[in-house]
Amino acid sequence: MDKTLQNLVDKLILEDHFFDVNNYIHNKAHTYRVMCHIITLSERVGQIREGSLAMCAAFLHDMARTDSGFCKLHNKWAAEVKLPQYEGFFFECGVSRKDREEIRVAINFHSIDQELDRFHPFAKTTAILKDADALDRFRYGDDDFDAKFLRYKTSLQMIDFGRHLYQETKNNKDLTLQECLRIRDEFFAHQKEVEALLNPVEEEGIFRRVFTRMFA
Ligand SMILES: [Fe+2]
Ligand SMILES: [Fe+2]
Repeated sequence: MDKTLQNLVDKLILEDHFFDVNNYIHNKAHTYRVMCHIITLSERVGQIREGSLAMCAAFLHDMARTDSGFCKLHNKWAAEVKLPQYEGFFFECGVSRKDREEIRVAINFHSIDQELDRFHPFAKTTAILKDADALDRFRYGDDDFDAKFLRYKTSLQMIDFGRHLYQETKNNKDLTLQECLRIRDEFFAHQKEVEALLNPVEEEGIFRRVFTRMFA
């Protein structure tokens, strides 16, 4: 894993009491799953800087909720109350002070219909957080998930993993981000094995034989 992301994985440790209410849907486990999706997505699209800021935004994004229902204000509360409380911690973790505003905007936009213009300087960080949050909507049931709300094409390739990660972790009250990443590595390694079985012609050995014949 990229060392900027690894550093945040090691340092962004959540405690239940960081959350304003004990909420069974928007809790530590949800936040860690969102952070896991951020790492996966940002590595796959090569947007590590934006991914690391989205990690900080994810850490706080649902902390100020007062209940588990539809809430139009928890984004503002997190940006206005939680960010000032935790920004010093983020700076200690290596986040630059000039990136504070980018984290704030991502938190603020995470739960509202309005999208940032795609050329807005903070559009990528915000989109990574929003897609990662959406990939954990399986906690509301399969019917609630709608792929058309995903912004990155790469996120579309992560839907099965989103479902799997939720199913594997939904009863784990002591979930860690490391455990999410372990489940992720196992899932994609298995997926790769299945793909290799389905597409044997793309296996390295067969390609090598063809090229040897062509260039010998
Ligand atoms: Fe939220
Ligand atoms: Fe969330």
